[in-house]
Amino acid sequence: MNTSAIAEKNISETKLDFLPLEGTDYVEFYVGNAKQAAHFYMSAFGFQAIAYAGPETGVKDRASYAVRQNKLTFVLTTPLRTDNSIADHIYKHGDGVKVLALKVQDATRVWQETTKRGGKSCLEPTNLKDEYGELVMSGIHTYGDTVHYFIERKNYKGAFMPGYRTWDNPYFSPDETGLLYVDHCVGNVGWNQMNPRVKFYEEVMGFRNILSFDDNDISTEYSALMSKVMSNGNGFVKFPINEPAEGKKKSQVEEYLDFYNGEGCKHVAMATNDIVKTVTALRNSGVEFLKVPDSYYDDLFDRVGKIDEDIAPLRELGILVDRDEEGYLLQLFSKPVEDRPTLFFEIIQRKGARSFGKGNFKALFEALEKEQEARGNL
Ligand code: FE2
Repeated sequence: MNTSAIAEKNISETKLDFLPLEGTDYVEFYVGNAKQAAHFYMSAFGFQAIAYAGPETGVKDRASYAVRQNKLTFVLTTPLRTDNSIADHIYKHGDGVKVLALKVQDATRVWQETTKRGGKSCLEPTNLKDEYGELVMSGIHTYGDTVHYFIERKNYKGAFMPGYRTWDNPYFSPDETGLLYVDHCVGNVGWNQMNPRVKFYEEVMGFRNILSFDDNDISTEYSALMSKVMSNGNGFVKFPINEPAEGKKKSQVEEYLDFYNGEGCKHVAMATNDIVKTVTALRNSGVEFLKVPDSYYDDLFDRVGKIDEDIAPLRELGILVDRDEEGYLLQLFSKPVEDRPTLFFEIIQRKGARSFGKGNFKALFEALEKEQEARGNL
């Protein structure tokens, strides 16, 4: 297909798409201490300070810090008092993802389309204004206590959104680590809840199921899970949905559900164009990663064929490689970024491959089980 044919195909797909998404706008985390969490994402992951909201900006019940690296925006929010739904969220789940915000052209229409199709509203279309323009946001519930916000910022020129003020720290601007954008966000749901959630993404949000893995694909000697990958029309937004499967021992999804106290976001995958450089920088800043056995690299080339990278730094950093029909990918998973074994991050570099590293599942999950066993949760 030539370039104009692809462009035409994309235009016609957009026309049919009742929920055209321009990508992830931001990810908001509810945390016990937003000031310190923001510092962690800046000092460990290389995000830059961009905006702050709190009592000084007229927001009385919370403090929020927005940090950014390329197209990745994270918001760290904490409650200022106990009689507060954010405090309840943290009491129940610990630190975790509350909002997966998606960028749209028309937040009002998207809210109408999704609620008409059965989406449960958590935020009616709301216009926010300040001297930089107008921003419209709306939202619906997804799995657990997690929500999707729809953000329309085409008439807004400020750093983040009304209610926030620009935040920069002249004494601290960490070096960026090459993280570019959200590649995908994985949700963990309960027993028999994967298919209902897949149906929600299909019917309410117009997503398609682009890949499925059953417990034969994703199982080790001990534990298993099932997964279906949901993608929006243009492929900019992908949400794999996992549920536990029966195994000899406890599935990693069950461990998550136990400690998160319900369904929630399990990992956010962040893309880079140079995974060796990015992971080296993150490791040097103290980010901890899962380590597969060294034997993983002994037959790497037999499994994935020729790749551009030298094997030595991949082995040294524990970076995993997998190939599909379209190309290959390199990936690595952090340990959980809070004390509960819940949310973690994936670092991914795609070289043609659009899949999710199926060939690495076994090695990876065995590494994960070792950690699970050390916590006494296998
Ligand atoms: Fe992933």
